[in-house]
Amino acid sequence: CGIVGYVGTRRVVPVLIEGLRRLEYRGYDSAGLVYHYEGELVRYRARGKLSNLEEVVDENIGVASRTGLGHTRWATHGAPTRDNAHPHTDCTGELVVVHNGIIENYGALKEELRAKGHEFSSETDTEVLAHLIEEYLEDDLVAAVRQALARVEGSYALGVLWAREPQKLIAARNHSPLVLGVDEEACYIASDIPALLPYTRQVIFLDDRELAVLEPGSYTITRIDDEEVLDKKISTIDWNASMAEKAGFKHFMLKEIFEQPEAILNTVKGRIIPDSGQVDLPEIGLDDETIRGIERIALVACGTSWHAALVAKYWIEKWVGVPVEVDIASEFRYRTLLLNDRVLTISISQSGETADTLAGIRLASQLGSRILTICNVVGSTMTREADGVIYTHAGPEIGVASTKAFTSQLAALFLLTLYLGKVRETIEPETLRELGHALVGIAGVIEEELPTIRSQIQELIERYYDSRDFLFVGRGLNFPIALEGALKLKEISYIHAEGYASGELKHGPIALIDKDMPVMALVPRDGVYQKSISNVEEIKARQGRLVLIGTRGDEHLPTLTDDVLYLPRVHDELNPLLYTIPAQLLAYEIANRRGCDVDQPRNLAKSVTVE
Ligand code: G6P
Repeated sequence: CGIVGYVGTRRVVPVLIEGLRRLEYRGYDSAGLVYHYEGELVRYRARGKLSNLEEVVDENIGVASRTGLGHTRWATHGAPTRDNAHPHTDCTGELVVVHNGIIENYGALKEELRAKGHEFSSETDTEVLAHLIEEYLEDDLVAAVRQALARVEGSYALGVLWAREPQKLIAARNHSPLVLGVDEEACYIASDIPALLPYTRQVIFLDDRELAVLEPGSYTITRIDDEEVLDKKISTIDWNASMAEKAGFKHFMLKEIFEQPEAILNTVKGRIIPDSGQVDLPEIGLDDETIRGIERIALVACGTSWHAALVAKYWIEKWVGVPVEVDIASEFRYRTLLLNDRVLTISISQSGETADTLAGIRLASQLGSRILTICNVVGSTMTREADGVIYTHAGPEIGVASTKAFTSQLAALFLLTLYLGKVRETIEPETLRELGHALVGIAGVIEEELPTIRSQIQELIERYYDSRDFLFVGRGLNFPIALEGALKLKEISYIHAEGYASGELKHGPIALIDKDMPVMALVPRDGVYQKSISNVEEIKARQGRLVLIGTRGDEHLPTLTDDVLYLPRVHDELNPLLYTIPAQLLAYEIANRRGCDVDQPRNLAKSVTVE
């Protein structure tokens, strides 16, 4: 879900709508907003996308309003209906709450409040919160919020307004992201930085169990259970507002695919000087002795970030010689973890807020493991909790399907591999230079190839866009890319797709192959090329419809299928970055051709801050 709030001197409705537009990637099941107007709170809510809310908001009424809250929802408790849309109110309608997170004990609280005469109009946990605050509210809103939150178990980022105090906005957080924006005339709250960028780049990251009282141009931050005022650091964000706009592209996803060369370059820039074999990552916060003492690495992530972790396993085990285990965070957190201070745990996350990944690193930390995070969002929770951070410098990623964040993660993980290999002396200086050159060079190769890849994919998709299923196969470093290709396609085009290790096909999925089953096979001329080709032959023998992505000049490929897309030869180790591009573009062009909502696919949210 996405939260935005404002108290200041501007007209509030446009600030809220613009903020919500920039947070819509966090959920778009419903949206709502509320503002103060002549001693009352005026509330609008609509099912579905923000555009539905814009249609019902009567800005003329709110034109004089300077305080308000907005919310865009990704449903957890209760269906995505208008009644369940935020903001929620208490019995009087004088108190409103927007919330992101899950109140775990809401059932018990609801019963208790019902017994006291509270009536509820939604199925949400958030509405319970509004009534709970009401229960404690006499004339001190802050005190009532504190008392209510003392009774609440679970996660929340919330904004609270009261009709009787038009210039006061209360915000609090526990295990859900919330950032404050400040300037001389106003204070803002938002779930994520892009909502603040048009107005201010001065931000304060709230920590867990902190509460902020915001007024136009001033704020106080305390712990929820303590009135002592905290002296919080103001950070300046170096993203700008236009970075979160489409810049002439039809979709954010397409723009972000084309931004990959720059994102990769920004991620490696200043950290590597290939000519001298220099790689430096002081930000990881590990001295050489600690690095030499690492006995195992645990990689934890979700979704696309998990695919980056799978690639990294191949790299690190090959070049650093340290065993690497890779976990999906929601599994990691509930299995028996054999971690200790000689295991380095690395979380990989675009947002730095994914609930399962965050829980994973917290557990690992309790077990004594050191925590490194690879993350794109400056100041996000993971970056603040980890012992060290490698930022990917991909810029804001808005499309729900991750693209540039993924390839930047790969670049960061390859950098890390080189750095660990340098310190542990498992990579020869000459090889280090060669791999460093290859890494820096890959951005240019992708830049050059992108337009050609796109036009080749556009030609292809006429034959494939109405497929019912799709398989993606790859070997070695390209096996995770096959998984990523399948994920991209299913999430934005709703075509059923699966990724497999090429060699695994014969152990089951080959039963699916017939003339209607398209298979995209990634077959670069790398060390496992011959093996991959044998697998492709097996598909061909069963009349599978092959799309081959291979190395330019490989004349064998057109003998297997008409649909061949060539990529230039790069260092084998960097193939995953290059081979991701056609997989992303295939998904994009098919989804676009099918008329799907590419940037906001159904049921998904970009940042999943609940379990
Ligand atoms: C969501 C998004 C995915 C993303 C995953 C992990 O499911 O839809 O695109 O890969 O979360 O997100 P993170 O921010 O931790 O990388």
